[in-house]
Parts: sequence; structure tokens; C-alpha cells
Amino acid sequence: MVKVLFVCLGNICRSPMAEFILKDIVKKRGLENEFIIDSAATSGYNEKFQLGIYPEAKDILKKMNVPFTEHMSRHMKKEDYDQFDYILAMEEENITNIMKIIEGDPKHKVMRLLDFTESPRDIIDPWYYGNFDATYSDITYGCEKFLEYVMDSSNEKTL
Ligand code: 4NP
Repeated sequence: MVKVLFVCLGNICRSPMAEFILKDIVKKRGLENEFIIDSAATSGYNEKFQLGIYPEAKDILKKMNVPFTEHMSRHMKKEDYDQFDYILAMEEENITNIMKIIEGDPKHKVMRLLDFTESPRDIIDPWYYGNFDATYSDITYGCEKFLEYVMDSSNEKTL
């Protein structure tokens, strides 16, 4: 079983998109029973106000035929560090904020999603910058490469 937690600032755009995109990819490959996939925010704001997936993020998931279920933003907790094998951030700033929550990463679980690709970089926040097509394509690329990494039996944490 591989347990993956996607993390962004608000948990209403990028990390829920990543959660449902990876769920869709693993389902299409018949691997859904091998994965637990969740998402969380470094900010507590959207949990406080009980916010779900941002409308434009929902629109792009619908447009790309990625199924999603009811989602409510949740603030990442320190205990998540023990619950998950991979804690995948969208950008470097998320990692700074994640470290404040988990107070250290002795098992090297925290990485940016695009660090698994040939083009390691941040996935910029569409909530501020507004390009949900680019966000979708970055996340899909990252999820495909992450899955390749996990399925590679030479890596430490495999199925
Ligand atoms: P996300 O985008 O981190 O991709 O979910 C944001 C959504 C909401 C806020 C910031 C970023 N916000 O400040 O409420």
C-alpha cells in the first residue's frame, strides 16, 4: 500500500486536483486498491470556513473527465507525517509551511510533485494567477512521473 498526501496552501485548488487526478490514473490502471490518496492545506483558513473545491478547479476536472467526490478543505496535522509515505507539495513555500507543522522530515517524505519529473519546479498557484489549464497539465505530468517512480521496483518504497 502506498499512502500519498498532496499538500498546497488552501486545499481547494491544486492539492484536491492532484488527489483526484492521481486517483483517476491509478483506477484506470487497476491499482486503486494499492493506494491511499488524500490532500490537505498548510493554511487553516479554508477548513474554518468549510470550503470545498474551488469552482474553476471543478470546471477543469469536469472538462478533462476526471471524477471527483465531495471534498472539504482540511488543515494538515502533525500526525499526517506518520500516516503517509509521500507528502507531495505543490511549491517550495508549501514545504516551508509543512516543516512548521511536522517539525522535521527524518524519513525524507516531503517533496514537490514536479521533483519526480525531468523539469523540477513549483506548480504556481492558480487561485492567485488563474491558469487552471496549466495547473492541470503540470499536475497530470507530475502524477504520471510520480507513479512511474513508485512502480519502479528499484526504489525503496514500492507496492
Ligand atoms: P491552493 O490555492 O493552495 O492551490 O488551494 C489557494 C486557495 C485559496 C487560498 C490560497 C491559495 N486562500 O488564500 O484562500
